[in-house]
Amino acid sequence: MIDLLVVNAKLHNKNQLMQIACSQGKILEVSPKIHDADASMALQTQARKTIDAQGYFVTPPFIDSHFHLDTTLSLGLPRLNQSGTLLEGIKIWGELKPSLTHETVKARAKQLLNWSIAKGNLVIRSHVDTSNESLMAVDVLLELRNEMREFIDLQLVAFPQDGVLRSKNGMARLTCALDKGVDVVGGIPHFERTMADGQASIRLLCELAEQRGLMVDMHCDESDDPHSRHIETLTFETQRLGLQGRVAGSHLTSMHSMDTYYVSKLLPLMAEAKMNCICNPLVNMSIQGRHDTYPKRRGLMRVPELLAARINVSLGHDDVMDPWYPMGTHDMLEVAHMGAHALHMTGVDQQAALFDAVTTNGAKTLNLENYGLEPGCNADMVILQASSKQEAIRLHPARLFVIRRGKVISRMEKANATVTIGTENVNVDFCP
Ligand code: FE2
Repeated sequence: MIDLLVVNAKLHNKNQLMQIACSQGKILEVSPKIHDADASMALQTQARKTIDAQGYFVTPPFIDSHFHLDTTLSLGLPRLNQSGTLLEGIKIWGELKPSLTHETVKARAKQLLNWSIAKGNLVIRSHVDTSNESLMAVDVLLELRNEMREFIDLQLVAFPQDGVLRSKNGMARLTCALDKGVDVVGGIPHFERTMADGQASIRLLCELAEQRGLMVDMHCDESDDPHSRHIETLTFETQRLGLQGRVAGSHLTSMHSMDTYYVSKLLPLMAEAKMNCICNPLVNMSIQGRHDTYPKRRGLMRVPELLAARINVSLGHDDVMDPWYPMGTHDMLEVAHMGAHALHMTGVDQQAALFDAVTTNGAKTLNLENYGLEPGCNADMVILQASSKQEAIRLHPARLFVIRRGKVISRMEKANATVTIGTENVNVDFCP
């Protein structure tokens, strides 16, 4: 029995409109539109529910590879970030931490998840701060991961915001978070007291991940200092411990300012170690270069060069309305849109690559199974009011239907304007 049949779906690289049949939470079949009216009707009456995609673009759900659910929607508490820097953001978060409660952190995170679902983000890798003695935020997000499992996948990273060596008991608290069920080992080597401590933290954390069979995702080199080269150590430890494909370097903003000769040595080593890189264009365009006069550096990793070296790159939103970023609605197409500008990736294929960076590449970073629009994959998809990957990035269009395991969990009306010119009404959908 077909639970859901999506008809007239525009899929990437398919000339014909397609039908997607879903059963028991999985995609059963993806076939061209059935032209025989009788056969089509028979199939539609067999299906419990049919959605007409009207020729619009259907994609697997968006994936946010890097987010902070425990800090989100806390903007202005207890004060705003006046300098706009990473370090003032960390200071404000430290001031807020003592007053945080289980209830308020959970309510904010839950509200954000509703936004995420409405935007078609059905997978989020969220870092969770392990610097508090109580590990309250860890408990909150573990609860939410379970409570929201039917609607959205959360992969949690144990993130020692104050430094795993720099703060007292940092390693013990992070280990405790893993014991509670956090999925991934995090780190912040550039925030440790010295370069040597940063390197030591990477070694310890990668060894911990190897012992426990876990993935690694570190905030790494989120700095404008070209000499911040912790990605080199992270790459080395990945190779040494056999963690290839299971380690991600988040931010890597110092790569923007590094010497190009050095980068030409670094990228092949990263490719060899199958490193995943997570770029956060919205937040790092806002935070980096704040100490510069003019010209001001962009401070993003070298995404076109990484992709050319066959290194997997996915994108993250990082923050929404918190001490580090005052804006956002958790729209991954806004992230890709900023990437197109700030990374000089406005070519047709480059825009498609950015769309992949918020979908399929994220699935690779997170080591997801059953992701995609192939038979056997989870019946998770989004119908966009757009016709292609490029148009989706240009328009940030309405998510007409968000489907999870074959069920519609969010709907949005089409965004059309009616312009009145004299006596004539003109429908405007911003498509030529
Ligand atoms: Fe982050």
